[in-house]
Amino acid sequence: MKAVFYSEQIKQVLQVVEQNAGYEAEGITHLPVNEFIDPQRLALEREMFRRLPLIVGHSSELARPGDFVVRELDNRSWLLVRGKDGVARAFYNYCQHRGTKLVHESDGCQQRFACPYHSWTYDAQGQLIGVPRADLFPGLDKSKKGLKQVDLQEYFGFLWLTQDIEFAQPVADYVDGLQAELETLDLGKYHVYFDRTRALKASWKLPVFAFLESYHIGTLHRESIAEFFLENVAYSERFGPHIRSFVPRKTVGELVEADLEKTNLAEYITPTNILFPNVCMIAHPTSYSIISMFPGDTPDTSWWRHMLLVPKLPETDAERAHYDKTVQVLDGMTYKSEDFWASEQIQAGINAGAIDELTLAKNEIMLQVFNDTVADYLPSST
Ligand code: FES
Ligand SMILES: [Fe+2]
Repeated sequence: MKAVFYSEQIKQVLQVVEQNAGYEAEGITHLPVNEFIDPQRLALEREMFRRLPLIVGHSSELARPGDFVVRELDNRSWLLVRGKDGVARAFYNYCQHRGTKLVHESDGCQQRFACPYHSWTYDAQGQLIGVPRADLFPGLDKSKKGLKQVDLQEYFGFLWLTQDIEFAQPVADYVDGLQAELETLDLGKYHVYFDRTRALKASWKLPVFAFLESYHIGTLHRESIAEFFLENVAYSERFGPHIRSFVPRKTVGELVEADLEKTNLAEYITPTNILFPNVCMIAHPTSYSIISMFPGDTPDTSWWRHMLLVPKLPETDAERAHYDKTVQVLDGMTYKSEDFWASEQIQAGINAGAIDELTLAKNEIMLQVFNDTVADYLPSST
């Protein structure tokens, strides 16, 4: 992303660096630990997830008509498939005869989906097109027995699923003031170089916290990325429920003299978008991390997915080595062994009853903002 797009924010970041401060609260604040262990709270959060548009994949996963992926979310299975009309749709992945799970592969390309139980068959648009021994179903209207559809939108290169169709809304509106940036980035042109999903022994909210403060960089990331970043200085903006944070690298001062038209912002500042509720989108100098968290069955479990997007798939050994190194340092060390490791540590401390409240420094105020936004979006308060 050309730095010129962020000219105004760069001024703010440079000022923050000069003042050695950031977006700060008046004083310290606290978060109650109950919200990370209470099953009733989790039930509300899961309901919130069902009502919001969630990134569940990259458009390139459904490149051709008939391409499909199956996603398990909230103990339900979803079939995402691109129809022959080019439209990507999402369906409950269950047969309308008697509810058997329809597609058991995780991905593939096919125009017809036959149920393993009695072979009712659906096309890539979700229509029921085949019923063996149809004479045994007098009066059955096949047009009314298509797969049950939910809301799927493609926006700025991603597949956004809203599970509860009653709450579907245009994603371009939902992203609020981030629209211009996301549409300019057009990450649909990128490719998925790395994609991994892992279980986490922590609330889905705790990793989000790790991306909203830079107080931890020097300590937690001392073996990985600390050498590149300034700590305790960040500039954050809010767009509806979403947050964009800029964490300056040690090179940030060079931006004062730079031609922003020719400058790649991510070499000087790391912009992170927290797309509410669960996506951290982080710009690296030559790639993007899309990290998403999803609640588990208990308040202290979740799972997370990390997709690394690259502008062009590597063709040479040197290009592959570059991105493999990125994966090793960012995914393996920085995220898995540091940020996500720390989330599990926090959860363990909360579960042990060892801590009565989480304490936030003045410059960790965005954690409070995020926590308040979750509370605002819970079904009981809407
Ligand atoms: S349950 Fe699918 S065909 Fe019978
Ligand atoms: Fe971190």
